[in-house]
Amino acid sequence: MFSSRVSALRTNRVAGELARRRSEGRRLDDLTASNPTRLDLPYPRDLLAPLATPDALAYDPAPLGTADAREAVAAHMTEAGVRVHPDRIVLAASTSEAYSVLFKLFCDPGDVVLVPQPSYPLFEHLTRLDGVAARPYRLEYHGRWEIDLDHLARMVNARTRAVLLVNPNNPTGSFVRPDELAAVRAVAARHGLAIVCDEVFDGYPMEAAAPRRSGALVADTEALTFTLGGLSKSAGLPQLKLGWMLLGGADALVAGARDRLELICDTYLSVATPVQLAAGALLERSRPVADAILRRVRENYAALLRSADGFPACRVLRSEGGWYAVVQVPSTRSEEALVIELLRHDGVYVHPGYFFDFPREAFLVLSLLPPADVFAAAATRVLARASRSPP
Ligand SMILES: Cc1ncc(COP(=O)(O)O)c(C=O)c1O
Repeated sequence: MFSSRVSALRTNRVAGELARRRSEGRRLDDLTASNPTRLDLPYPRDLLAPLATPDALAYDPAPLGTADAREAVAAHMTEAGVRVHPDRIVLAASTSEAYSVLFKLFCDPGDVVLVPQPSYPLFEHLTRLDGVAARPYRLEYHGRWEIDLDHLARMVNARTRAVLLVNPNNPTGSFVRPDELAAVRAVAARHGLAIVCDEVFDGYPMEAAAPRRSGALVADTEALTFTLGGLSKSAGLPQLKLGWMLLGGADALVAGARDRLELICDTYLSVATPVQLAAGALLERSRPVADAILRRVRENYAALLRSADGFPACRVLRSEGGWYAVVQVPSTRSEEALVIELLRHDGVYVHPGYFFDFPREAFLVLSLLPPADVFAAAATRVLARASRSPP
């Protein structure tokens, strides 16, 4: 009766323990939190006023996005040092939807896209729901997370259509270095692959002095490239549902992609009119929120590093950007057993590394978004528990 693309939701031991803790009504510090709207950030009360413009009473469908909204995104990118013409911008309801649109653009059922590992678990669902296979290429930690370029090249097969990059990656926090990008470009050129670069976290570099590593593919004149972003992360407004794709590559390739994208997007017309009309104002007015998120993730990451000095058995891996930190912990029990202990005895919820397909155990992933006092105390409990032998 049902498609094999969707299986029934499975539960697991961590979810069971989490539900139990919640049902007991006891305190729980959630270090998996990824929804910025629930974490005491300074959203101006009237931030969303531009959505109420009377102009939104009229509907003029624009499959690729309205000209004003695309210009607003172009202006936002210019401020970040990335020059892109509004004609090379296509809007979607979210970055997740942009992936789905792109899979429809270049994949037939059963085709393959290469995805980083470890990375963002939604890729498994995003690909499967579009009948596409996700083939992982490895990232390895050598003081920073790096793309295993030989492995990536070996993973290409006759069905491969695209390489997906996440820059900086979730949860490893690694930016794609220029030499890595050059190597990926060479692979893409050799096999005629598109490159999709997810840069939703590019506004959150951990180190103030780090060179800016985003937007590099927009100016590409060879491979067909798509750079993804959206209000969800860059403005801390996931509920508004506005994402964008920036197209790069040779004019003829981009024109071919744009024509086809127009057909795909026209089929759904999923981006709401009010958010398009308000896009420029929202990007402008949400700046204090993005600034506060950046301060918070940096502050929490620094607190985690300080706290880890007292727990030499744990190692905080280097993060260059984004909203998450990875901690390598002693593998004296499974990641799952440790996460359950933390829920049961310490009232802290963290993600196990296997959730993100780390190559081996034991890693924990901590969200850096919670308020600083909550984060610092809970992170110290995590390090203390992980350093201790299992009960
Ligand atoms: C790397 C990455 N890309 C995309 C998304 C999804 O963003 P959106 O809300 O625009 O779908 C997330 C959400 O956590 C993410 O971590």
